[in-house]
Amino acid sequence: MAPKPLSVWHPFTQEALDPQPVPIERGEGVYLYTRDGRKLIDAISSWWVNIHGHAHPQIADAIAEQARKLEHVIFAGFTHDAAEELAWRLRRVLPQPLEHIFFSDDGSTAVEVALKMALQFWRNCGKSGKTRFVALEHAYHGDTAGAMSVGADSDFVAAFQELRFPVYRVPSAYCFRCPVGKERATCDIDCIGPLTRLLEERHEEIAAVIVEPLLQGAGGMIVHPVEFLQRVRELCTQYDVLLIADEVLTGFGRCGKMFACELAGIVPDIMCLSKGLTGGFLPLAATVCTPAVYETFRSTDRSRTFFHGHSYTANPLGCAAAIASLKIFDSEPVFERIAAIEKTHRQEMQSLAKHPAVADVRTIGTVMAVELRADDPGYFSELRPALYDFYLNKGVLLRPLGNVVYILPPYVITGEQLHYVYDVIAESLDRVPRIAAARASQ
Ligand SMILES: Cc1ncc(COP(=O)(O)O)c(C=O)c1O
Repeated sequence: MAPKPLSVWHPFTQEALDPQPVPIERGEGVYLYTRDGRKLIDAISSWWVNIHGHAHPQIADAIAEQARKLEHVIFAGFTHDAAEELAWRLRRVLPQPLEHIFFSDDGSTAVEVALKMALQFWRNCGKSGKTRFVALEHAYHGDTAGAMSVGADSDFVAAFQELRFPVYRVPSAYCFRCPVGKERATCDIDCIGPLTRLLEERHEEIAAVIVEPLLQGAGGMIVHPVEFLQRVRELCTQYDVLLIADEVLTGFGRCGKMFACELAGIVPDIMCLSKGLTGGFLPLAATVCTPAVYETFRSTDRSRTFFHGHSYTANPLGCAAAIASLKIFDSEPVFERIAAIEKTHRQEMQSLAKHPAVADVRTIGTVMAVELRADDPGYFSELRPALYDFYLNKGVLLRPLGNVVYILPPYVITGEQLHYVYDVIAESLDRVPRIAAARASQ
């Protein structure tokens, strides 16, 4: 029998098929506590946002203190201490020369801002013919119209085709399913070829290339070689095209350094930040850019104004949470925790890789993904619901992307808790019937 309709409509949820949502009463550290008295390890950081653990007292206190002082103020014509301190703190950790910080609300709005900023930048430069964007296959940049346009074609955007503007699409460095049929050990990042040719031929009409640096998240936790990102940067410079790095997922330590771009030693022209920005407490985003981009907007000519903003731009509570989260990077051994997770991933994934149900394993920083053999690979693989239920019953929140199971924990997860998550995944490979059936048919 189909579950009873709810008046609260949940995201990415087919309420006629999916189980009722699990009521959560509180969170602490890596755990979520359910209303019926169970506890779950949040091994996906609640949609990749949480970094220092749930209900971290320092962030909770900072929000409460800010709320008693100033909960919100219009950010056009006004400013406040929390936004200024956050901008200062972000500049200290951002790769230079990313200096100018435009706040918005979430990952999707950070991307919309970046796209609009890139378009207007070229107009401000007197090159209004540069209007097209280049994006990667398997990309995901959010659910608003512009973000969906640069996101890959998929079942998720099929119903909204009319809202999406056309973009040039080029292969991503998905080494396990190499788009040009090479092996990573011997290739010369040959998958960069189509981007090279596209920029060579069409750079005069291209405003920007947008990438998720080194890790494509929703597309299947696809890890790119650093050389791919380096080549994208070189090409953008060579052909006078902006590079937008969407670090909404990868920022704030997720890939092992504060920002994924640092691992490749590159600096984009525009960077999008959200998710971990507030430690996972409140929605807030920032689109940051270099002076070369910013200075084209600063003018006595009002038509160069960046006409974009949201009611809650630079919300003081979000800024206070983000300041507290950045302070935790200084006061707690955050990068030691990240390094410990990386080490465990590298050790544990070796034994998962040997399992016959496993097609590929990959890791970067605190993220580890296992791509399973499936008769129906992709997001709608029937493996997904079976695995999801199995994990929840074992007390672990893991939300496979179809046949890709991944771990993306808050950095405070202990070795013991992480080993338990691995044990549960290993058990699922033997116990979930559809995996066994898919294996039998190999
Ligand atoms: C790389 C990337 N960009 C943008 C977004 C959109 O962020 P939000 O869901 O906060 O709008 C996401 C969300 O998963 C993401 O992974």
